[in-house]
Amino acid sequence: RTVYLKDYRPTDFIIETVDLVFDLGETMTTVGSQIRMRRRPGADPSAPLIFDGDGLALSGLALDGKPLLPERYDSNANRLTIRDLPEDGAFTLTIKTRINPTANSQLLGLYRTNGIYSTQCEAEGFRRITYFYDRPDVLAVYTVTIIADEKTCPLLLSNGNLVEEQRLDDGRHMARWHDPFPKPSYLFALVAGDLSMIEDRFKTMSGRDVTLRIYVEHGKAGRAGYAMDSLKRAMKWDEERFGREYDLDIFMIVAVSDFNMGAMENKGLNIFNDRLILADPETATDDDYARIEAVVAHEYFHNWTGNRITCRDWFQLSLKEGLTVYREHEFSADERSRPVVRVEEVKFLRAHQFPEDGGPLAHPVRPTEYVEIDNFYTTTVYEKGSEVSRMIATLLGPEGFRKGLDLFFERHDGGAVTIEDYLTCFEEATGHDLTHFALWYHQAGTPVISVDSAYDEEKAELRLTLGQKTPATPGQRIKKPLHIPLRVGLIGPNGDDMEASAISGGAHRKDVLELTQDEQTFVFEGIGARPAISVNRDFSAPVRVRFDQSREDRLRIAGAETDLVARWDTVNALALEALVRAAENVKAGQPVTVDAGLSAVLVATAEDETLEPAFRALALALPSELDIGREIGANVDPDAIHTARKTVIRAIAETGCETFVRLATGMDTLSAFSPDAASAGRRALANAALALAAAAENTPARASRAYQAADNMTDMLAAMRVLAHQFAGSDEAEDALSDFRRRFAGEPLVLDKWFSTLATVPGGQTLERVASLMGDTAFDETNPNRVRALIGAFASSNPTGFNRPDGAAYDFFADFILTSDRRNATLTARLMTAMRSFEALEPQRRALARKAIERIAGHDDLSRNLRDIVDRMLKS
Ligand code: ARG
Ligand code: ZN
Repeated sequence: RTVYLKDYRPTDFIIETVDLVFDLGETMTTVGSQIRMRRRPGADPSAPLIFDGDGLALSGLALDGKPLLPERYDSNANRLTIRDLPEDGAFTLTIKTRINPTANSQLLGLYRTNGIYSTQCEAEGFRRITYFYDRPDVLAVYTVTIIADEKTCPLLLSNGNLVEEQRLDDGRHMARWHDPFPKPSYLFALVAGDLSMIEDRFKTMSGRDVTLRIYVEHGKAGRAGYAMDSLKRAMKWDEERFGREYDLDIFMIVAVSDFNMGAMENKGLNIFNDRLILADPETATDDDYARIEAVVAHEYFHNWTGNRITCRDWFQLSLKEGLTVYREHEFSADERSRPVVRVEEVKFLRAHQFPEDGGPLAHPVRPTEYVEIDNFYTTTVYEKGSEVSRMIATLLGPEGFRKGLDLFFERHDGGAVTIEDYLTCFEEATGHDLTHFALWYHQAGTPVISVDSAYDEEKAELRLTLGQKTPATPGQRIKKPLHIPLRVGLIGPNGDDMEASAISGGAHRKDVLELTQDEQTFVFEGIGARPAISVNRDFSAPVRVRFDQSREDRLRIAGAETDLVARWDTVNALALEALVRAAENVKAGQPVTVDAGLSAVLVATAEDETLEPAFRALALALPSELDIGREIGANVDPDAIHTARKTVIRAIAETGCETFVRLATGMDTLSAFSPDAASAGRRALANAALALAAAAENTPARASRAYQAADNMTDMLAAMRVLAHQFAGSDEAEDALSDFRRRFAGEPLVLDKWFSTLATVPGGQTLERVASLMGDTAFDETNPNRVRALIGAFASSNPTGFNRPDGAAYDFFADFILTSDRRNATLTARLMTAMRSFEALEPQRRALARKAIERIAGHDDLSRNLRDIVDRMLKS
C-alpha cells in the first residue's frame, strides 16, 4: 500500500462528537465508542462509511441504538464498512471492540507495561483501539469514561477536564473527562494506574489559573522538579514571544518508562518517555537537563502548533513538527546561550539530517508518498523543517515572521491545514512572494554552495560569486535552484566587520544575500581593504559550503569572527580537514603530521576568557570518527579513521597539555550543583579538557581520580567515558565501570548510560561485550530505551566496533532486527536506519553490510515499517 498526496479527499461523513467508554482489564479491555455523525453536505448519498482498524475484532455495532443487521456492514481486522447510512440528518453509531493492552508489545494504541495503562496514538495508533476515521482532518469533541479497578488504578486520566468521578461495585471506579476542543484521533490519550504526582500552578496572561501536574512512578517525584520548572518557563515564553496562551484549566504530563519516541503532545495530557522528565544531579547529565527543557517546551508548544491548528493529512507533518522544533529552538536560545544552542543544532543537523538527505532514505520536507507514515518522523521533517521556518524568519525579519504567524493562528485556529496555507499567511501578512522559496518543502537533498571571490583594491570592490547545486536523490534526479538566504560577513584586517556602501547582484536584506539562481555574482562597494569572507553566518541556510579560502583568512575568522556560530564552524572545519588528511595518510601507510597552526587555534580558543566556557568546550570537542567518515563520504575505512583521530588528538593534546590540565582541574568544584547553562558550560569545558589532558598524559590516573571525585552525573559519566574509551581494558576503566554498574543497579535510566558507554568502546572486541550485555539482568529487550542504549548506540555510534571487517556485527544486528521486528515495528525500523549509509564503506565491508541487509529483506513476514526501510535502503 502506497499512500499518495494527490489522492487526498475529505471524508464522506462528518463526526461531531465521540463518547468513549473504556472498561480496563489487563488482558481484556472493552472499548465502547458512540459517534454522533452525519453525511457531509454534497457527499455521494450512497457512499458507504469506511472506518480504519488495525488488528481489531468487532464485538458490537448499532445504529441509533438498534443493532445493525449483518448485511449492512463488513468488518475485518483492518476495516469496518457500513452501507446505507442516512442521506442527511445526524445519527449515532455505537461500536464495541475488545483489546488486550498487556499483549500490545508495539507500544502503539493502548498498552499496559509495569502496571500502567497508557496510549500512543500518533500517527495511526487510535485504529488499534477502535474503528474510526483515524486521520488528522477529522476533528471531534471527545468525552471519555474510564472504568478500572480502584486499587491498581487509582488514577484515571484523559484529555480535557475531569467532569465526573464515581465509586462502583466490586472495587471498581470511574472517571469521566471532557475535552471541549475538537481534535483529531491522534491527540487522544488515556492513562490509568498508580503514580505519584507533583503539582504547581500557572496564571496565564489573561488571568486563567491553570493547574499543572506531572505524574511519575512512585519514588521519582523528587526528580520531576526541573520538568515542571521548564514547563512554566515555556508557558511564559510562548505568551511573551508569540502571544500564545494555554486554553484549559489543567495541563498534565505523564512519564512512562516504555515509550517508542521522545514524547507526545496529546491535548492537555502529554505523555513522555520518562528519560525526558526525570532529572536530579546524581542521575542526570547537563545534556539530559537541556533535552528535558527542550522537549517539555516542544510538546507544550504543540498546543498551538499542532493541536489548535493541525495537519490536513500526514504529508503535512512538518507543518506542525518543523514549526514546533523551530519554536523549541528559539526557546532554548532565549533560555540558554544563543550561539551555543545554535552550534549544537548545526552539529545535530549535519550528523543526522545531512546523511539522511544524502542517502537512500532521502525525502522532501513534505513528501508526496509513503508506505508507512511512522517512518517519516525523521530529521528531515523535524529539523530541516525547522530550518525552513527559520529561513522564512530570516527573509521576512522577526516582525514579518511574527505578523505571518499571527495571521496563521487567527485564520486557521480549529483547522486542519496544509503547508501552502502556512506559507500564504506569511505572503499575505508581509507582501513577500514565497513561491520560489516553497521549493524547500518539495525538493530533497542538501544544496552545495560554491563560493568564489575577487577583490579589486582600486575600485574598493568585492565580487562574490555564489553557485548552488543540489545532488540527485531517490526519485528526484533533476534539481532546481532554491531560494537561499545566506548571511555573509566581511571581516576587515583588524577583525572588525566591514560595511558595504552598496550591494548589487540580487536581493539582499542587510547582510543576508538571497541566492535564487544557479549562479549569481554579488558586488560589494566601498570595501577599503581585502576582507576575510564569512559565509553562512549563524548557519542561515541548511547547506554545505565549498569555499577554497586562504588559510590566512580562515585563521582570521577562527580568531576574530564576531558571529560565534561561523567562528566555531571555521575552527571545526580546520580540525576536520586535518583529521581527514590524517585518515588518508594512515590508509596510505604514511606518517600522520599535525600542523602547529591548528593546535595553536584550539589552545588559544580554549584559553580565551572572553568566550563563554560552553563555546570553548564545543571547539575542543574535535570532530568524531563519524563526522570524519561522513566528510570522507566514500570508500570509508573506520579503522584508519580511528587511528588517525587518536594520533591527531594526541598531538594536539601534547601541545596544549598545560592548558588542558589547568582547565580540567576544578572549574566548578566549590559551588553546589546547579543545572543552569553557565554552570553546565563550565563542566563541559572541564570535561573536554579532561579528555585531552588524559590523552596527553597517556595514563588513566587523572580520569580515575575525576571519576572518584565526581559529585554529579555529568562529571561522573564524562570521566567514565574517558576511561572506557581511551583506556579500554585498564584496571581503572574496569573498576569505574563495575562501580557504576553496582551503584546504579536500581536505576534503569542511569544504566542506559553505562550500556551506551560500553557499546561505544572502539574496536572489534566490543561485539562480544554487547552480545553478553544482552544477558545482563538490567537489559530488557522489550524496553525501547534499553534497546536504543545498547543495540542502537552500538550500531549507530561505534564505527570501528560495528563495522568489524569480518561483518560479524552486521550479522548480529540483523538477527536482533529480525527478532525485534515481531515485537515492536516502530522501534525496529528506526534502529535499522543505523545502516542507511552502508554504501559509503570500503568495498569489503560494504558487501558484507549489503548481505546482512539482504538477508533481512529476504524474509517475507517483515512489518510494513521494516519492509519499507530495507527496500528503500537496497533500491539505490
Ligand atoms: N508528535 C510527537 C512529537 O514530535 C512525536 C510522535 C511520534 N510518533 C510516531 N509514531 N512516530 O512531539
Ligand atoms: Zn513534535
